[in-house]
Amino acid sequence: MKNLVVFASGSGSNFQSIIDAIFEGTLNAQIVGFISNNESAYSVTRAQDNNIPVLIISQSDFDDGESYSEVLLNQLKDWNAEVLILAGYLKKIPSEIISAFENNILNIHPSLLPKYGGKGFYGINVHKAVLENKEIESGCTVHIVTDEYDQGPILGQSKVKVLAADSPSDLAKRVLEKEHNLLPLTIQQHLKNKK
Ligand code: GRF
Repeated sequence: MKNLVVFASGSGSNFQSIIDAIFEGTLNAQIVGFISNNESAYSVTRAQDNNIPVLIISQSDFDDGESYSEVLLNQLKDWNAEVLILAGYLKKIPSEIISAFENNILNIHPSLLPKYGGKGFYGINVHKAVLENKEIESGCTVHIVTDEYDQGPILGQSKVKVLAADSPSDLAKRVLEKEHNLLPLTIQQHLKNKK
């Protein structure tokens, strides 16, 4: 069984989908820790409710990026982390961590990458752009994290139709439902391929 550490900055509904999939037995892994930059995020409460150890950490609390990465890396080692999952984590993962966990950091993004990825494309902005460009479909992507924002190899995608009457939040809601299926499924496939 592999040791996962989940990172999230917001409500953590994707984090919850991982917790649920483990509980239901469709994801063969355990969550050994949770990391957030936002102590008041609901995802932190979800971690506490499930007795998952929490680290709240922000680069801005450190004098330099190096000491920040060191604390982060030491905590990941202490937890024996093997695979890191970014489930709505809004901060950049330091290069040192990306190298230490090469090919083992997965991110979920609410668009069909490579479309609507990169700087500025997060949260509702993604869905606004999709609607402005009159796309007929959208969806979500799970990919490997590399040093380039949203550009790592794609592991899985799930599509939704864009409806004429959609507002950005309507579309966000339908994409999020797909995310909740895609993320645990793709993690499970990735762990199987690792063996
Ligand atoms: C999701 O749309 C995810 O794709 C994006 O951030 C959002 C997080 O939602 N990276 P939640 O916190 O999991 O509910």
